[in-house]
Amino acid sequence: MGITEGNGRPALLRAVPAGAEARVAELYWEAFGRKLGPALNPPEAGRAFIAAHLHHDRGIVAVHGDEVVGVAGYRLGRRGLTGGGLGDVLAAYGPFRALPRLAVLALFERTPEPGELVMDGIAVDAHRRGLGTGGLLLTEVAAVAAEHGCHRVRLDVIDVNPRARALYERHGFTAVRTERTPYLRALLGFGAVTTMHRPVTPADARA
Ligand SMILES: CC(C)(COP(=O)(O)OP(=O)(O)OC[C@H]1O[C@@H](n2cnc3c(N)ncnc32)[C@H](O)[C@@H]1OP(=O)(O)O)[C@@H](O)C(=O)NCCC(=O)NCCS
Repeated sequence: MGITEGNGRPALLRAVPAGAEARVAELYWEAFGRKLGPALNPPEAGRAFIAAHLHHDRGIVAVHGDEVVGVAGYRLGRRGLTGGGLGDVLAAYGPFRALPRLAVLALFERTPEPGELVMDGIAVDAHRRGLGTGGLLLTEVAAVAAEHGCHRVRLDVIDVNPRARALYERHGFTAVRTERTPYLRALLGFGAVTTMHRPVTPADARA
C-alpha cells in the first residue's frame, strides 16, 4: 500500500487509500470510541458508519509497511474526514434511535473560520505510540494548512488527555480557551474542552 522510509519511520499519505477505510475507522474508534459511543454504538455499527462515510481527501495517513498505523483527520471548508449527515444517521440507525445520536454528534460539529484548518482527530495504533508518528502527522497537517493558504490550525483537546495536550504544546499549539462541560462527564467521560491554536506560515509548506 505504501512504502516505509529507509529509516523505519512510517510513510505519510495525503489521503486515505481505497481499501483502508475499515482500518482508519478502527483506529478512530479505538481512540475516540468513548466519545463517539453514545452517538454511534454499538462499536461494530459505529466503525462501519465511520468507514462508510469517510472523506478520503481529509485524512493524512501514516503507513508502516502495508499497515496503516496512524491517521490525522482535518476539516477544511465544509468537509472533514468523518462524514455522514442527518439522512445517513437515520438510514443507519432508524428514526427512533437516530434522534439522540444526532444531538450528540452536533456537539462535535466544528466549522473552520476562513483561513483556518480544524483538526478532527489524531490517532496512532496503541502498540506504536511514543515513536514519533503523532508528531509526523502534526507536522504534515501544518504543511497541508500552509499549502491551502491557512494561517492557523485549530484543535480541541479534552481535560482527561494531558499527554496529547503536551504533544500539541511541543508542536507549537497554545491554549486559547477552555469550556467547562461538567454535564458531559457522565455521558462522554470528560468535563472540559480546551481549544488550541497553532500559527501557520508559508515555511510550513512542503511544496
Ligand atoms: C496522541 C497520539 C496521537 C500521539 O501519537 P504518538 O505517535 O504516540 O506521538 P509521538 O510519538 O509523536 O509523541 C509521543 C507523545 O505523545 C503523547 N502521548 C499521548 N498519549 C500517548 C500514549 N498513549 N502513548 C504514548 N504517547 C502519548 C505524549 O506527549 C508523548 O510524549 P511523552 O512520551 O514524552 O509523554 C496517540 O497517543 C494516540 O493515538 N492517542 C489516543 C488518541 C488521542 O488521544 N488523540 C488525541 C485526541 S485530542
